[in-house]
Amino acid sequence: MERENFNSKIGAILAVAGSAVGLGNIWRFPTEAGNNGGAAFLLIYIGFMLLLGVPIMVSEFVIGRHSQTSVVQSFYKMSGGKKWWKLMGLIPVIAGFLVLSYYAVVAGWTLYYAFQAGVDGFAGKTPDEIGADFQAFRTDAVTSLIWIAIILIVNCAIVALGVKKGIERGAKIMMPLLFVFVLVLVVCSFSLPGTAAGLQFLFHPDFSKVTGATLLNAMGQAFFSLSVGLCCLCTYATYFKKEVNLMKDGIHVATIDTIVAICAGLIIFPAVFSINGLTPSEGPSLVFVTLPNVFHQAFGSYPIVAYTFSLIFYLLLVMAALTSSISMLEMVVAYFYHEIKVSRPLASIGITVVCLILGMFCSFSFGILENVTLFGLGFFDLFDFIVAKIIMPIGGLLICIFLGWVVDEKVLRNEITNMGTLRAPYYKVYRFIIRYLAPIAILLIFVNQF
Ligand code: PHE
Repeated sequence: MERENFNSKIGAILAVAGSAVGLGNIWRFPTEAGNNGGAAFLLIYIGFMLLLGVPIMVSEFVIGRHSQTSVVQSFYKMSGGKKWWKLMGLIPVIAGFLVLSYYAVVAGWTLYYAFQAGVDGFAGKTPDEIGADFQAFRTDAVTSLIWIAIILIVNCAIVALGVKKGIERGAKIMMPLLFVFVLVLVVCSFSLPGTAAGLQFLFHPDFSKVTGATLLNAMGQAFFSLSVGLCCLCTYATYFKKEVNLMKDGIHVATIDTIVAICAGLIIFPAVFSINGLTPSEGPSLVFVTLPNVFHQAFGSYPIVAYTFSLIFYLLLVMAALTSSISMLEMVVAYFYHEIKVSRPLASIGITVVCLILGMFCSFSFGILENVTLFGLGFFDLFDFIVAKIIMPIGGLLICIFLGWVVDEKVLRNEITNMGTLRAPYYKVYRFIIRYLAPIAILLIFVNQF
């Protein structure tokens, strides 16, 4: 089958940044930071981004661009024909189904909230009423399922269109808009009474709250936010041209991703501290309960401004969710398309239907299936735990071992230096990290926690 490429360098960066920047930054990051003590979590998270996230991201690029084939074949070919490594191809498939299923639940919420903002559904409501509305919405099985289905269908349509017409074009339109929206909202949030307390929470670290669990949570968040450890970016990198500077792109994407996460914190924490009764550890409902209140309190005397800001915020969430969920679907579609030779549209539709069914269980875990738990977690939390705290670290570890110890060093050097045309003085540091530092760090944190 003919392999498509991203048309332009900027298209490639935006597509990868689109995968990275998502609900992980704007919804999951504030939730995790809120639960894990704020600033200390932020610092540890940034440390993991630099030490583990970027090297693993670049490693996924190396694997994808070098082999130009499906993940299964990439590991098989690059290992010099060792069959066991083919099993790595299962990671993006299994993780792709799991992650898309629960991600679509939150993505569905964002779409519903964008709709609510559009019809001015938050106007005149008290914080308690807004909180109660969110609770009622997510426990209402039918309504929430409809919104999940809509977002999954849009996602499916974009991926079915293909790499250039769907994924690249979608990212080129949505990502720049997203950056503008983020900036506008940061400025808006700074006019709130809780700004000082919010900044204190986000930037003044209290390390006494850091435990082994905090480390695993921060590592999981770094991996999740950069979309690494699932070989998802291997798939995108197969569409890279040979001139792309892998390290530079990796650093650019990680920088963009971190800036957006910090901006999300800057938008959300001043907001949380501006409303009586809300705390940063509100959990997954943080952005859905806090923000509608904030806009209406902050701009109470200018309803049109309040209306515009809430609409912008939820549209921002929808776009962030879409550019990421596209990459989740793509990693599974690529497997069915290249390995099993199912056509792109058919694969997209089939996977979407399965994810809708799994997503239904995740969504219902907030309502009718609330009491069904495994290891104390409902479906939604369980899926998130398995992906971010088990599969991603293990996947990241295996990717490092593979490139650091199994693959011929020349291949690695050639990919990082673009066949010797780049100087790449960082090459040695990068190789040291993936051979020693990253595997040991991941193992220690992982074993310590379990
Ligand atoms: N990085 C995405 C986000 O921050 C989530 C993601 C995870 C995307 C895994 C693809 C694969 O929202």
